[in-house]
Amino acid sequence: MEQKRMAGVKATEYIKDGMILGLGTGSTAYYMIERVGEMVKKGLKIQAVATSESTTRLANQFMIPLVSIDEVKEIDLVIDGVDEIDPDFNAIKGGGGALFREKMVAKVAKEVIWIMDSSKTVDALGAFPLPVEILPYGYQHIMARLERLQYNPKLRRNNKEIYITDNHNYIADLWIEKPLKVKEVEEKLKNITGVLETGLFLNLCDRIIIGNDTGVKIIEN
Ligand code: A5P
Repeated sequence: MEQKRMAGVKATEYIKDGMILGLGTGSTAYYMIERVGEMVKKGLKIQAVATSESTTRLANQFMIPLVSIDEVKEIDLVIDGVDEIDPDFNAIKGGGGALFREKMVAKVAKEVIWIMDSSKTVDALGAFPLPVEILPYGYQHIMARLERLQYNPKLRRNNKEIYITDNHNYIADLWIEKPLKVKEVEEKLKNITGVLETGLFLNLCDRIIIGNDTGVKIIEN
């Protein structure tokens, strides 16, 4: 928790007055959002775009002014968490189910910072299952396609109920054999009708901030 907090708080040093800020989702992003709330209280003038309904609720709680993604031309800076990241800045995201909006926000952002604790950095992706957002319509067929690719899909559930994303879709968590050939996997997944987005974020960040036992480490991409 302390590592996540340090990374989240450090990232807020990159926020400037007047920015349109993308707010990530997850337990690390929480600390960043909490600090942004304090900064807004002290007079920071920003507008924020949230990457999930849970982040929208947090932003409202901390009285951070929100705008929808369609009200802005671009986003100046997005700060978000990751589930796993390799030395080439390829990451798996979506453990919290927000991958679609997170990727949309990252793609329209001028600058992207990923924040994490030291457990998130790995030599090769794949220990964490890869989430993909899929359409409910025809999902059994989408799952069958994923099976045929030997991606070992598991439909995400909340207890017994199927997990529903903020966009009213489903998530399939893929247990793909390592080593993950990220570009090939991304291409194959994007070719499946009904796969709406994947949790592979390939070299989509400008900088990572890692909390560790002694402080934070910043790596520029
Ligand atoms: C949300 O869908 C995810 O992409 C999160 O950003 C990611 O799971 C990191 O979460 P934590 O900061 O809670 O580990």
